[in-house]
Amino acid sequence: MPESISLSKRGKNAPASPIRSLAALARKAVDKGVHVHFMNIGQPDIPTPKGMIEAYQSYDEKVLAYAPSDGYIEYREGLANYYNDLLEADTITPEDIIVTVGGSEGLLFAMAAVTDPGDSILVCEPYYTNYSGYANMLGLGVDAVTTTPGNSYRIDPSSIEAGISKTTRAIVIPSPGNPTGVVLGEEDLDAILDICNRHGIFYISDEVYREFVYDAPQGTRSPSVLSRPGSENIAIVIDSVSKRYSACGARVGCLVTRNKEVRRAALHFGQARLSPATVDQHAGLAALDTPRSYFDDVVKEYTQRRNVLVEGLASIGINVEPPRGAFYLAVALPVEDAEAFSEWMVSEFTLENESLCVAPLEGFYHTPGLGRNEIRMAYVLEQETLKKCTNILGAALEAWKQKN
Ligand SMILES: Cc1ncc(COP(=O)(O)O)c(C=O)c1O
Repeated sequence: MPESISLSKRGKNAPASPIRSLAALARKAVDKGVHVHFMNIGQPDIPTPKGMIEAYQSYDEKVLAYAPSDGYIEYREGLANYYNDLLEADTITPEDIIVTVGGSEGLLFAMAAVTDPGDSILVCEPYYTNYSGYANMLGLGVDAVTTTPGNSYRIDPSSIEAGISKTTRAIVIPSPGNPTGVVLGEEDLDAILDICNRHGIFYISDEVYREFVYDAPQGTRSPSVLSRPGSENIAIVIDSVSKRYSACGARVGCLVTRNKEVRRAALHFGQARLSPATVDQHAGLAALDTPRSYFDDVVKEYTQRRNVLVEGLASIGINVEPPRGAFYLAVALPVEDAEAFSEWMVSEFTLENESLCVAPLEGFYHTPGLGRNEIRMAYVLEQETLKKCTNILGAALEAWKQKN
């Protein structure tokens, strides 16, 4: 590159994803013939609903055309029905919905619609790392409110209020949470909405794990901010087919808001990128017919997996409180530097020629130094495999202790 040419600050500062940071090392181990178990990434192995797969197989148009920038009206009508069923009210219209390329694009559009460079978003750390990736892309700062393993990562609304700075324009919180599994109840949502309304800031509520709630009556979904009074003007919900239907490759999500100006901005961003994927929306529409029993089975399976993982960790001396939602476990390890340990484990350690890839949690914190001894484990593997994973982790920790 000539000396006079250089990248933007945002290009230079773009953070690497801590979720994928060990992928290259893991690939090398796989190339060496090691069987690596991947618990670093939230890629479920649960089969995608048949109806969705069939929608792909039966797509039979002569031309693969652009879709409307805000998504097909049939799909948005279907989504509006889904939300009205969820909210047990008739409050969401197709006009309140913009179909996006995964929940990821919805997050980017939402953040871009309500901030300017120099503003900031407020997150509760440990947080879903792409929030800071997008903040960097948009020239935003991050205000972080720390939640702790000792308090089951509970999000305390009063600490959110204390964490608001002069530049905060939006709070971005996932519920159920990634990486903590924390589920916000209606009272929490109301308290956060009240704070947002009083301070004049938006509430970007990331609800992509809505169906994955455990230790609750069958069919329970985590409450949506859209159901709460006071949400009309300030709530922007981010949603996705990725986790709900175990269809991460479909790249279909949406942004839902009743704020017309936010919708207009998101639509214009959508026009600039022309169109969300065409065929995937047909699959998304078919997915809306997925029977409730699919989710009952999936939730049962994730609950069992969570329990197997929590018990497996307890058997190697690591006690973790079972999270109530999503499919991740944030785990404090008896090591100083969980990243160095995780790198070593995936690249050099094997137990019966098997190894384990996890995500170091330090990159899920904004405050330097926090999370150094923590990792995230995604329980997206079969129960028998999860048992092996905790055995590998236990043996690796023992070997690491001997080594250091
Ligand atoms: C909390 C959260 N929000 C949003 C996303 C975005 O997913 P997608 O773009 O596949 O919809 C993810 C993916 O892991 C996530 O964990």
